[in-house]
Amino acid sequence: SLATIAILLGAYLLGSIPFGIVLTRLGGAGDLRQIGSGNIGATNVLRTGRKGLAAATLLLDGGKGAAAVLIAQAIQPDLALWAGFAAFVGHLYPLWLKFNGGKGVATMLGVSLAAWWPAGLAFALVWLAMLAISRRSSVGGLSGAVAAPIAAALGGQSDAVLVMLVMTLLLVWKHRGNIARLLDGTEPKVGQG
Ligand code: G3P
Repeated sequence: SLATIAILLGAYLLGSIPFGIVLTRLGGAGDLRQIGSGNIGATNVLRTGRKGLAAATLLLDGGKGAAAVLIAQAIQPDLALWAGFAAFVGHLYPLWLKFNGGKGVATMLGVSLAAWWPAGLAFALVWLAMLAISRRSSVGGLSGAVAAPIAAALGGQSDAVLVMLVMTLLLVWKHRGNIARLLDGTEPKVGQG
């Protein structure tokens, strides 16, 4: 129906707001695309040295994913997960950036928390633990993203498992450069490189 299209398109557009780029520019910290990895996420905002901007990017990139789920929940509950997925796709492939977006860690975390919070909690705990152990943002994000669909499966949330698995696959694909650097030992520690 028209409402379905409007919700999914709205969620995609919400997800496609590149808060990292916007906040870095507003904060006078330069063009994020020319800094560090060139990625639009909080990890790369941190490479500007502006911790507050990085924290805000993490919150807003996560918040837009959660908001998409919760807004859809209120209008058409059966679409909630798919609205979250649409926001996630918007972050990874935003129209405004010629479909060259981010890697999806914060946004998938926000979607997971809003869709089925135990999976979001598993994501967050595994992410923080692996970040603490490895000191690599990518290791934390990748591990957390793998944990979410596992948690959903253990909880019998079959719809969430499916949507989260697809998000995890896209997130891993977007981290292929990071994975190559991890394998050859050149991935920088968080806050460096
Ligand atoms: O979510 C992105 C993070 O896992 C890696 O970011 O900038 O180090 O490629 P970056």
